[in-house]
Amino acid sequence: MTPTTIITLAELAVQRDAWAAAGARVAFVPTMGALHQGHLSLVKMAQSLADQVVVSIFVNPTQFGPNEDLAKYPRTLKGDLELLSGLEVGAVFLPNTATIYPDGFQTYVHNKGMAEDLDGVIRPGHFDGVLTVVLKLFNLVQPHVAVFGKKDYQQWRVIERMALDLNLPLQIVGAEILRDADGLALSSRNRYLSDTERALAVRLCQGLTAAKEVFKAGSREPKNVVDACRQVLGDVAGIALEYSELRRQHDLTPFAGKIDAPCVLLVAGRVGSTRLIDNMEMD
Ligand code: PAF
Repeated sequence: MTPTTIITLAELAVQRDAWAAAGARVAFVPTMGALHQGHLSLVKMAQSLADQVVVSIFVNPTQFGPNEDLAKYPRTLKGDLELLSGLEVGAVFLPNTATIYPDGFQTYVHNKGMAEDLDGVIRPGHFDGVLTVVLKLFNLVQPHVAVFGKKDYQQWRVIERMALDLNLPLQIVGAEILRDADGLALSSRNRYLSDTERALAVRLCQGLTAAKEVFKAGSREPKNVVDACRQVLGDVAGIALEYSELRRQHDLTPFAGKIDAPCVLLVAGRVGSTRLIDNMEMD
C-alpha cells in the first residue's frame, strides 16, 4: 500500500495530534530520499521501537557546500514511495524547501567540537546544515525516538550530542551499516559509480576489515591499526583518500597513547568524482 504522504505543516500537525491522542509512540527516520535497503533497515528498526514510523524525504540544501552534488543529488520519489509501500510506515513527510527555510531564515545549529573534525574539515558547514534541519524536523515531527545509520558515523554522533546538549526529549538510536555481498556499504551515492569505480570502491571496506584484523589480533597501537587500512587503500590509482582516522566511538576523540576504549576507524575518499565514506567499529 502506498504510504500516506504529508506535505504541509498543518497536515503534519493533524497526524501528530491524532497519534498523541491515541497514545502512540512515534519513531522517526529522516532521509534525503534515493532510498535503498540500508534505509529500509532503519525503518524496520524504527518499527521495532515504536507504534508509528514517520520517514521524511528532504534534500537539505544547507548541508551541501557550493561545489558539492546538491543539483545532481538523486531525486527518486516515485521509487522511494514504492520501496516504502512494502513496509507500512505511518506517514512520509515531504516538506518543501520554503517550508523548512522560509524567507528570512537565519538561525543555525553549530557543534563546536566533533563537527569541526573529519568530515567537518573537508565539508565546512556541512554539519551546521545537518543539525539545523534535523532539529527542525524533530520539532515538527516530535518523535519519541529517531534512527540514524552508523554509515554516517560522525553525523550520528554529532546528532546524539545535540540531543544531549540541548535536552531534546527523544532517544537517538544508531543502526548498523548494511553492506553489499562484497562489503561495499550501501549509500545513495553508490549509484554515481561506474562499473570500474564500483569495483574499486570495495577497497574502502577491505581496508577497514584489514585494520580490524590487526585490532582483533591484539594490537592496541593506533598507528598499526590505521596503517593496515592505509596499506590497502593508500596509493590505489582511482581512489583519492581524504582521511583514515581511528577515534573513540562515543566522542570521536583521537587516542594519545594506546587504544584504551571502544574505537572506530573512519575513512573518506573519492572514487572517481564520487565521495564515499565508511567506517568500522572495534570493541
Ligand atoms: O543522512 C541523511 O540522509 C541526512 O544527512 C539527514 C540526516 C536526513 C539530514 O538531512
